Amino acid sequence: MPSSRGPLPPHLLPLTASFDPSGRLSVGGVDLCELAVEHGTPLFVYDELHLRKRCREAVAAFGEGASYASKAFLCKAMASLVAEEGMGIDVATGGELHVALAGGADPGRIVLHGNNKSTDELSTALEAGVGRIVVDSHDELDRLEDLVAGGARVPQVLLRVTPGVEAHTHVYVQTGQDDSKFGFTLSTGAAATAADRATASRAVDLVGVHAHIGSNVFALSSFALAVEALAGFVGPLGLPELSLGGGLGVAYVEGEETPSITEWGGVLRRACAAAGITARLAVEPGRSIVAGAAVTLYTVGTVKEVAGVRTFLAVDGGMSDNPRPVLYGSGYETFLPRAADAARPFAAHVVGKHCESGDLIVRDAALPADVAVGDVLATPVTGAYGHSMASNYNKVPRPAVVFVADGEARLVVRRETLDDLLRLDL
Ligand code: LLP
Repeated sequence: MPSSRGPLPPHLLPLTASFDPSGRLSVGGVDLCELAVEHGTPLFVYDELHLRKRCREAVAAFGEGASYASKAFLCKAMASLVAEEGMGIDVATGGELHVALAGGADPGRIVLHGNNKSTDELSTALEAGVGRIVVDSHDELDRLEDLVAGGARVPQVLLRVTPGVEAHTHVYVQTGQDDSKFGFTLSTGAAATAADRATASRAVDLVGVHAHIGSNVFALSSFALAVEALAGFVGPLGLPELSLGGGLGVAYVEGEETPSITEWGGVLRRACAAAGITARLAVEPGRSIVAGAAVTLYTVGTVKEVAGVRTFLAVDGGMSDNPRPVLYGSGYETFLPRAADAARPFAAHVVGKHCESGDLIVRDAALPADVAVGDVLATPVTGAYGHSMASNYNKVPRPAVVFVADGEARLVVRRETLDDLLRLDL
């Protein structure tokens, strides 16, 4: 059950959210109900100022070492906003690299990740002149050596290390423990062997170490533990850079509180100083930049009361635009933009339109009692890993994305059409 039946806690809304006297919600000076009429639903609405402020906070905390993890949400407009705000960008595949470059990212500020980079991906990255490649395996080093032997330029690389730290988060998004597909294990000596190889190799210029312990981590102590675990390895290597990845958690539901990017920066710096690490600190926040910036708008299509059991309220999207509840059991809040400050005494499962019972957007959602078919219903804090993990399951076209600022809405990704669903068929 939700923790409260009161109004939606305002801290879960984007920064520029404002109510008119009747409780209608605007973001970026744009009325959300009107946006739903103009662009249809489901619709991802991003508060552009919120995005910019989070980027600025990251740059203030980490300077040049701040890169945005584009897997959380990427389109050309986002890549260009990130570049305008002075952040680098982390890409984890050739696809993300392609979109980041198309959005105007400076190749020198791109960090390429991936535990299984293909020769093609590596070769494209080398040609584009990406700033850093985070090397994840010996097979990748083999590929880089072949490419450089064939005339490609020598890249600056970081070595991804698994520090042996279990972050307090969902097991699917833990990455710092020894039992992980990512990186070279510290405890087994694999990291030291890889560092020896990379140092000796003429095909790579080893400039640092990288570790990412997991995602949606609320306990800053987990990051400090990772720094402690890495100190004995990083110190003797004497390399100029240390990237501690992303992973800062965000509040999704009432009652959750999370440290700010600034506080995260302070903890990381103090942990590095305490461990005697002098390398330049880098990070790759994704979720903490974009999650709270967006709300998803849906339209209520059916309200089905199963007598003595519960009410199911079905909207026009579902697991195809937000697979997080079904993947990780993630919780969300709901509200009605026409009455965003209203009490929410009514409990219902908000479900999608897909053909499975797991297609749940919010379990036991709290809603105003007068919610009805045709209402625009919103879920806040949906800016991270929603649009980026969206699918065409049941051949549902993916939603559009708008950026709102200063009373204007800018369509940055158009809604897929039914013809888009056929564009790959031969
Ligand atoms: N750096 C690396 C190497 C990563 O693997 C990730 C996330 C990040 C940075 C950014 O982490 P963030 O700041 O966003 O936590 N789909 C999952 C999250 C997967 C995260 C994967 N890696 C979810 O919806 O919760």
